[in-house]
Amino acid sequence: MKSDIRWNFANIGQDQVGEKSGLSEDDIAKMSQQLAATHNDLKERRNRGDLPFYNLPEKVEIVEEIQQYAEDARKRFSDVVVLGIGGSSLGPGALQTALGRNPECAADAPRIHFPDNVDPFEFDDLLGRLDLEKTLFNVVTKSGGTPETLAQYLIVRERLEHKLKDKYNEHLLFTTDPVKGHLRRIANSEKIRAFEIDPGVGGRFSILTPVGLLPAALGGLDVSGLCEGASAAEEECTSDELLINPAYRFALSLCLLRDLKNVGTVVMMPYCNRLLGLADWFRQLWAESLGKRFNLKGEEVFWGQTPEKALGATDQHSMVQLYMEGPFDKVICFLEVEDHGVDVVIPRIYPDQPDLDFWGGRTLSELINAEKHATESALRQAGRPSITAVFPRVDAYAVGQFLMTLEIATVFAGAFLGINPLDQPGVELGKVLTKKRLAGES
Ligand code: PA5
Repeated sequence: MKSDIRWNFANIGQDQVGEKSGLSEDDIAKMSQQLAATHNDLKERRNRGDLPFYNLPEKVEIVEEIQQYAEDARKRFSDVVVLGIGGSSLGPGALQTALGRNPECAADAPRIHFPDNVDPFEFDDLLGRLDLEKTLFNVVTKSGGTPETLAQYLIVRERLEHKLKDKYNEHLLFTTDPVKGHLRRIANSEKIRAFEIDPGVGGRFSILTPVGLLPAALGGLDVSGLCEGASAAEEECTSDELLINPAYRFALSLCLLRDLKNVGTVVMMPYCNRLLGLADWFRQLWAESLGKRFNLKGEEVFWGQTPEKALGATDQHSMVQLYMEGPFDKVICFLEVEDHGVDVVIPRIYPDQPDLDFWGGRTLSELINAEKHATESALRQAGRPSITAVFPRVDAYAVGQFLMTLEIATVFAGAFLGINPLDQPGVELGKVLTKKRLAGES
């Protein structure tokens, strides 16, 4: 059964949250021409082959190759370590967090680790706990030159060779550019199995390439369901029915809130621990794609909207006071789950004490979902806008749908604002300066 995500944009309307931070129907209606022009622009660019991420869910042959590799690898390894950072780690990590404990996961799945940071204590601790004879290292870097990933690779390469001699390359798996970069060269010369990242797909848009799908398949996740959900979203979010397109509505709502109402922060707040990784993935997507100094005309715009994450209900006791009564500069994007897969009944132990007895017989699902609805309603009453994505269940189909919807929303926002969402000059500069500093040049 398909679990289509439903989006609710009602609580960004002025009729719900008032004039200070709500959008009027007129605010949206005035954009209709620009909306249509942006839609046509994206269609043209896609037809020219400039936005290949849209077509990734159709690449069935790659999925089959990945599944075959993973099936064999699952028999050989107890642990898989993904060495990558940014777009080469956040997506695959989010998939594992969301889906890695679902009952349909392959029973023989190895443990998957994402040590994306170069924190010496953590990395040493992880390597010390692994049995190298039973560990596969999936090194993921599109450019092949990212300092953190290269450093981790070099450390691992030495330890593998020391322990496994000429069999070290059987414990390495690369995901990188088909032609360029250090990893591709090493893969060719040292006979290391390597999967390709389409050169036209940027890091943070690469979750449906082998970057995300290989660790997902190794972890026994439902990769076909993921692609099916993404494909459904691609169809829904490219239709000419512009105002019912959830990707366009999401992007338009956030951009107009930013530009007309000074809403400079979007907080993604799942009421489900398994979805917190998706909020991390979204932070990078929205921040790195749209936080830009220049627009496409070369004018200084310093555009950006800061994506944050919070966890419901935990952060109701930490952050929500600020969201409710602090500055009018935030929109909350709730992620709600209807069916959590399991439920826990709260027992009835004190029948003679009405305050305690009230909870008896209710469930944790009822409680967490009631908390989400109560927070949404309290924010509305306080004049604070919100959007909700309702996941019927946390399954691969819904997650795939969510990912593709937000990727399309992000490129739509870039085109709408006249900003290039596919580059990241600030990140690149950091990489160059790190190297200079270590070389003693700055
Ligand atoms: O989205 C991006 O392009 C970046 O965040 C990259 O994913 C990140 O810098 C890692 O780059 P690479 O995959 O080249 O190692």
